[in-house]
Amino acid sequence: MSNAASFGIHDLSFATTEYVLSHAALAEYNGTEIGKYHIGIGQRSMSVCAADEDIVTLGAAAAAPIIARHGSERIRTVVFATESSIDQAKSAGIYVHSLLGLQSACRVVELKQACYGATAALQFAIGLVRRDPDQQVLVIASDVSKYELDSPGEATQGAAAVAMLVSADPALVCIENASGLFTADVMDFWRPNYRTTALVDGQESVEAYLQAVAGSWKDYGEQGGRTLDEFAAFCYHQPFTKMAYKAHRHLLNHAGHSADQADIEHAIGQTVAYNTSIGNSYTASVYLALAALLDQADDLTDRPIGFLSYGSGSVAEFFAGTAVPGYREHLRTAANLAAIARRKPVDHARYRELHEWSFPADGGDHPTPQQTTGPFRLAGVSGHKRIYQAR
Ligand code: CAA
Repeated sequence: MSNAASFGIHDLSFATTEYVLSHAALAEYNGTEIGKYHIGIGQRSMSVCAADEDIVTLGAAAAAPIIARHGSERIRTVVFATESSIDQAKSAGIYVHSLLGLQSACRVVELKQACYGATAALQFAIGLVRRDPDQQVLVIASDVSKYELDSPGEATQGAAAVAMLVSADPALVCIENASGLFTADVMDFWRPNYRTTALVDGQESVEAYLQAVAGSWKDYGEQGGRTLDEFAAFCYHQPFTKMAYKAHRHLLNHAGHSADQADIEHAIGQTVAYNTSIGNSYTASVYLALAALLDQADDLTDRPIGFLSYGSGSVAEFFAGTAVPGYREHLRTAANLAAIARRKPVDHARYRELHEWSFPADGGDHPTPQQTTGPFRLAGVSGHKRIYQAR
């Protein structure tokens, strides 16, 4: 057993969808002034799933490069965080475990608490690797964000998966012990089991998020956390990228700091590049913010990064990580940019068709049209069973 002193993110990889809808196309269809999307909510486009993509194919595509680089011998736990679950009983992680050929000596579980789930997974994973630093945990955050067509939430849809290998002596980011927690029972955003699209009280959800920022920061201070001016940057959950700016301004005001626009831009600006193009990926969003930051910042070695993970309903956690010396050699910047660039634009009519596409629930054989060019696809359902293929 090694004498590891630090624990955190050893590798991070993400995947997104086959298709993309621009906000310009959405605005042209619904008559919205484009400034509302580009400036008001800070979104340029949204990832759109092909009919043969879902949280499993995205999650497997995100995790496959990690397995290719590190092997899977040390992975004895897979935690799949999602709020767009495809089954009420079976973990989506088991399909990924199978697609990636992981060992049978492995525990696989799905975690849910809206967009916060991946942070719970990360913290639980750190607990496991602390117990046995020879083991690694594969954390997968995968979500498809869907609101009703023509609703206010529609412009904040998106889809992506982030996979993280959690280990002792990580190569990317050490996660620190101090953690600020906050839970409140609010109905700002939810999705009953019988619905495919989320329900949301938009303005209430923004207020609930801001309340959770203040609450988790307060607890973070009480747990012996760092002071605000120690942080090089802040990765917020980004349901739309403007929300990160609102949240940071709220945090600065709450903590009695001046909320200068240039300081806010400095703290947030490099975290939004991927989410502005992908849209809301729920559990994955805060870790896409981290990927964008690490890929773009000059050098963050040993610099603290603040994380604010928010999940409606609601749970939030404020915690910190530091970039590890040499981290830049382990980044996947070219692959990350390629994952975004490879998406094919769809027009608004095609987007609506894809949005409304679903399998019949009659238990028959329903092959899926071959659309994705990604490494994994949902080939169909048969006898109520989902059938996946690796290329
Ligand atoms: N040019 C520039 N800005 C413009 C503009 C224009 N032409 N027109 C409007 N705007 C601005 C508005 O002033 C507003 O800015 P502020 O928020 O700074 O005041 C912004 O654009 C949005 O305008 P509205 O509030 O009028 O927009 P809306 O009624 O369509 O609602 C929304 C926006 C609430 C985010 C809605 O898209 C929504 O419900 N989204 C889903 C819920 C959500 O994302 N909530 C976030 C917190 S909850 C969470 O984080 C969990 C999660 O992932 C869901």
